[in-house]
Amino acid sequence: MKAKTPKESVVEMTELVLPNDTNLLGNLLGGKMMHWIDIAGAMAASRHSNTAVVTACVDSLDFRYPVRVGELVMLNAKLTWVGRTSMEVKVKVYTENIKTGETILTNKAYITYVALDDEGKPTPVPPLCPETDEEKKDYQEAEMRRNERLKKKAQKLKNVSIENNYSPYTDQ
Ligand SMILES: CC(C)(COP(=O)(O)OP(=O)(O)OC[C@H]1O[C@@H](n2cnc3c(N)ncnc32)[C@H](O)[C@@H]1OP(=O)(O)O)[C@@H](O)C(=O)NCCC(=O)NCCS
Repeated sequence: MKAKTPKESVVEMTELVLPNDTNLLGNLLGGKMMHWIDIAGAMAASRHSNTAVVTACVDSLDFRYPVRVGELVMLNAKLTWVGRTSMEVKVKVYTENIKTGETILTNKAYITYVALDDEGKPTPVPPLCPETDEEKKDYQEAEMRRNERLKKKAQKLKNVSIENNYSPYTDQ
């Protein structure tokens, strides 16, 4: 499979914060922001892999500043790393105050997606070829995050038989 650069699958998405997206204080709901971040990241991953993708994990998600009703939310999603079937995407979120034109970085997230074939099975993705110094640094840092993630997953799998036995009356 031919390698692709991170630039080739970048997604830029802009949303307007409407009253229905906000809480009682007029601030954007965290869940709505997470939805937009997930969609922007999934589109970048799909562009890279040319497949459907599913979200495997959200590695980190910061909420740095509240976002107000009437502001513009600009999302930039870019691949940082790929494995055999998985891809990590960095999503940076800026908000713009329409009246002042001021923009600030309000959120940053790292999300891992897995490419699926028509049967819903993980399928190989093209290699990623980072070009700029920043992309190369992102790639190295993503690899460290992946190693941490795999460790955590292995730990969780040890407990899975307990977790699968859900009961609303026990606190496990
Ligand atoms: C993600 C999913 C397809 C992985 O399936 P799986 O049977 O674990 O597949 P594999 O073990 O072959 O792993 C496939 C890839 O996913 C990666 N992966 C699996 N679980 C992961 C996790 N929790 N975090 C990061 N990567 C993960 C593996 O490292 C592997 O990557 P690689 O091919 O680049 O080495 C499966 O767990 C799934 O369908 N989950 C539900 C996804 C979903 O519905 N998301 C919506 C949000 S609820």
